[in-house]
Amino acid sequence: MASMIKALCVALVGAVLVIAVVPPAEAALGCGSVISYLGSCRPYVTDKGPLGGCCSGVKGLYKAAKTTADRQATCSCLKTLASTYKGVNLSKAAGLPQQCGVNIPYKISPSTDCSKVT
Ligand SMILES: *[C@@H]1O[C@H](CO)[C@@H](O)[C@H](O)[C@H]1NC(C)=O
Repeated sequence: MASMIKALCVALVGAVLVIAVVPPAEAALGCGSVISYLGSCRPYVTDKGPLGGCCSGVKGLYKAAKTTADRQATCSCLKTLASTYKGVNLSKAAGLPQQCGVNIPYKISPSTDCSKVT
């Protein structure tokens, strides 16, 4: 019994290591990169500060998300962020692309259907 638990632990640790070592899928943009692009937007979308460097992040993200898979990944990340981040002013978040002069073909909102993003 104890050896079985031990084997299970080894397998678990192994799985965690594999997950940690394998780089995030190259196919789609990770949520981590989306967050780092948009980090400077936080004061703005939370009504705490000016736009600041936000637009350069928005534009960088826009350029980075080239494929449909990237855009869908970005979309679902933004969607999750919009619904989980406390204090996000959704009308400001939704207005960001326009504010920055970038044409993002979907709304940044918790109700966006990301599977329709192309
Ligand atoms: C969101 O921002 C808009 C525009 O600045 C403002 O009019 C509105 O009151 C804000 N909404 C919330 C919930 O803070």
